[in-house]
Amino acid sequence: MGLPYFEIHGGNRLRGRTRVSGAKNAALPIMAAALLCEGEVILRDVPRVSDVHFLAELLAKLGLEVEWRADGSLRLCVRDEMNCKAEYDIVRKMRASICVLGPLLAKRRQAQVSMPGGCAIGDRPIDIHLRAFKSLGAEIELVSGDIIARAKRLRGREMFLGGPFGSTVLGTGNAMMAATLAEGTTVIEMAACEPEVVDLANFLNRCGASITGQGTPRIVVEGVRQLRGCEHTIIPDRIEAGTLMVAAAITNGEVTLDNCRLDHLMAFVDRLSAIGVNVEKGKDNGVVVSSARRLEPVDVTTQPFPGFPTDLQAQIMSLLCLADGNSVITEKIFPDRFMHVAELARMGAQLRKEGSTVIVEGVKRLVGAPVMASDLRASAALVLAGLAARGVTKVNRIYHLDRGYVKFEERLKALGADIERKIGEDSGGD
Ligand code: EPZ
Repeated sequence: MGLPYFEIHGGNRLRGRTRVSGAKNAALPIMAAALLCEGEVILRDVPRVSDVHFLAELLAKLGLEVEWRADGSLRLCVRDEMNCKAEYDIVRKMRASICVLGPLLAKRRQAQVSMPGGCAIGDRPIDIHLRAFKSLGAEIELVSGDIIARAKRLRGREMFLGGPFGSTVLGTGNAMMAATLAEGTTVIEMAACEPEVVDLANFLNRCGASITGQGTPRIVVEGVRQLRGCEHTIIPDRIEAGTLMVAAAITNGEVTLDNCRLDHLMAFVDRLSAIGVNVEKGKDNGVVVSSARRLEPVDVTTQPFPGFPTDLQAQIMSLLCLADGNSVITEKIFPDRFMHVAELARMGAQLRKEGSTVIVEGVKRLVGAPVMASDLRASAALVLAGLAARGVTKVNRIYHLDRGYVKFEERLKALGADIERKIGEDSGGD
């Protein structure tokens, strides 16, 4: 059985208009939060990517009725609370399943979730998640690869969620969800400030929770007796928006993005502007992206929000491969998140990795080659490089890309890219 791959003939300049999808990383914890609610939850703008389908499958196994409605919205409603076990075969496919832990613990007083394994961007510990649950009074044990959490009644407490890399996005979400039904007040110090955490807090408040401070490092949650269902529209995906901005810039095209929140992309747009990419609000609320032919080298360091997002590090590296000079990219969140480096080098990029820093020596052009996708954002970076490269690029294992991008090749094709999804033999690799 062949595997899907992209065949890209580089050189076309992208032009036109496209709408940014709803954010996968906001939709996932918000879908999990439906476990807390009595009554129906209707979510609009949920991106139909494989990560969302995996989580929907898991939530159905946990007793939720999950229905995609004709208008594209997603309806979730708790039908029974018997099963509290998230099986390994789903968790290993999608690490974000860990965000069912908090809701299950708060609503059903118990949860059994397989310990998520590592992935291509590094190991993915959850010690801070477990610290949060213990702060709220849960008992946690690890039994043959499963986390088993129990609590008679969670009690609000002060907790500190800082770790060696700053805070934790899903850890903050898990702590916040668990605290909504805890007794008393919970204070989360060193909370993650990402827009996806804010969207989750806003959703929970709409369901009757009492959360303040979202978007700042100090979040306060007043426990309530129960949460009802509600309707909510997922925020735009800032990472998809950033990826599309690079697609416009790397092909020296001009693309307008609808449903794009520039206030979620300040650090990224700051770097794009320094490179020589124009990003401006159009008259009709679209964001217009175009670039000068000559790209300036810049230095990039990934940081927690509002710093430069780690999820756009690979994509900006593809762009900087074509800058006129040397750039330095430092990864502070996932120090091993460089699976795209060797593949970009196959396309003629001049990259030198030193620990969690990569020196990018700009080259005149990239040359198409068969390359291997490894994780969601590295895959996107390889597609972006292929759009600009001379000749044909074959990106294998694009199931990684389908996890987080909605119909990516169709949208790029609509903007003028020469890209096809094909089925073929998986050449090389482990
Ligand atoms: C979320 O992952 C995103 N995923 C990631 O996006 C994103 O890269 C990451 O946040 C950072 O912004 C989703 O939202 C589904 P973290 P998360 O906990 O929450 C360490 C993508 O491409 N850490 O903020 O799992 C951890 O190892 C994905 O869409 C601990 O040490 O990331 C990392 O170094 C990839 N202990 C750092 O903190 C913990 O208990 C940040 O991780 C938890 C995390």
